[in-house]
Amino acid sequence: MPVISAEVLTRFVEEILLAAQAPAHKAAIAASSLVASNLRGVDSHGIQLLPFYVDQLLAGEMDAHADGHVISETGSCLLFDGENGLGQWVGDVCCRHAVRIAAAQGMALVVARESNHFGAAAWWAQKMRAAGQIGIVTCNASPIVPPWQGKEGRMGTNPICMSVPGPWLLDMATTTVAAGRIFKAFINGQPEIPQGWAFDKDGVPTTDTQKAYKGMLMPLGGYKGSGLAMMVEILCSVLSGGAMANEIGGIRVRGKKVRNSQMFMAIDVARFMPVEEFTARVEQLVALMKATPAAPGYDEVMVAGDPEWRTEAERKQNGIPIADGNWDNLCKTAARVQVAVPGQLQ
Ligand SMILES: NC(=O)c1ccc[n+]([C@@H]2O[C@H](COP(=O)([O-])OP(=O)(O)OC[C@H]3O[C@@H](n4cnc5c(N)ncnc54)[C@H](O)[C@@H]3O)[C@@H](O)[C@H]2O)c1
Repeated sequence: MPVISAEVLTRFVEEILLAAQAPAHKAAIAASSLVASNLRGVDSHGIQLLPFYVDQLLAGEMDAHADGHVISETGSCLLFDGENGLGQWVGDVCCRHAVRIAAAQGMALVVARESNHFGAAAWWAQKMRAAGQIGIVTCNASPIVPPWQGKEGRMGTNPICMSVPGPWLLDMATTTVAAGRIFKAFINGQPEIPQGWAFDKDGVPTTDTQKAYKGMLMPLGGYKGSGLAMMVEILCSVLSGGAMANEIGGIRVRGKKVRNSQMFMAIDVARFMPVEEFTARVEQLVALMKATPAAPGYDEVMVAGDPEWRTEAERKQNGIPIADGNWDNLCKTAARVQVAVPGQLQ
C-alpha cells in the first residue's frame, strides 16, 4: 500500500484534473478538498472520487468550465445555479457568499441547484468555521437509498454536517455509512462489509460487498434516517427548485447529469457573544462529555470530529496510506489523461 505525502498527492490530483480540461483554479480547489478528506481519514470522499469525476468530465456530463450564477439574493438568502459545473467550485463560491452574507446580516442561507458531487461536507462547513461562524452544510445525492420500509432507491445518502469554532465537527451520511465506504470495500476486493450497512438490489439486507455495490444503502437508524434524508432533500432540492430524489443522476451513472442541490447555512457567532467565549463554552460542553466514564469495551468517550482530527495529525506527519485498489484506479485514471505517476511519493 503506497504512502504518499499530502503535497505530492494534491499535485498529482491537480495534474489529472488539468489534463481532463478543468481550469487551473478549479482543479486546485477540487484537489485540495479531496486530499483534505484523505488526510482526515475519510477515504470514502478523498481521491477515490477522482476516477468518477474524470469519467464524468471525459463523457462531457459535467462542465468544468461552467462558473454558475446567482439567481437571486435578498437579505440573508441566496439562490445559486451551478450550471452543471464542478461541485467543488459551486461549494467554494457558495461558501464565500454564505460567509459574506452572514458577516453582514448575522445569518446566511445559500442554496445551489444544478450542481455536482462536492466531496465531504466538512470541507465546506469548515470554511464558515474559519470565519468565526457556525457552518451547516447538507446536499442531496444519487438515489441509492430506499425510504424506510421500501425496496427501491429513492433518496441519497444525504449528508448533514455542522462545524463550529471549537473542538466539535459532525459530518455524517444519513445512511449507516456513506456509499463511498462500500465503494472502497469493492475497489479493494474486500468480500464482506459489516451488517447494517446495505441491502442487495431486492431490498434484502446483505453483507456481501458485490451485492451491496449493486444494491442500496440502509437508512441510519431506520425511519429516523429516512426522516433526516427527507429533511435534507427539502432544504436542498425542494427549496432550490432543483432536481429531487430519483431525478438525480450519480457519479457512477453515465448518460444522466448529476443535477444535485446543496445547502450552506452560516451563523455569525459574534451576534450572540464573542467567538472566544463561544469556543470556551463548546470546549466546556465537550469536556463534560469526555468526563463520562467509558463503557465496558471502550477506553474513552470521543465527540464528533475526534477520530478525524487524530488521523489528520498522524497523516500530516507520516503521509497518507492509499489502499492498493484505490492507487491502481488513480494510476489508471492518470494514464487515461496521459499524466505521469509521481516518481517520489514523499
Ligand atoms: N457528497 C455527498 O454526496 C455525500 C453523501 C454522503 C456522505 N458524504 C460524506 O461522507 C463522509 C463520511 O460519512 P459517514 O457517515 O460514513 O461518516 P462516519 O460514520 O465515519 O462519521 C460520522 C460522524 O461521527 C463521528 N464519530 C465517529 N466515531 C465516533 C465516536 N466513536 N464517537 C463520537 N463521534 C464519532 C465522526 O467524527 C463524524 O462526525 C462525510 O464526510 C460526508 O460528508 C458525502
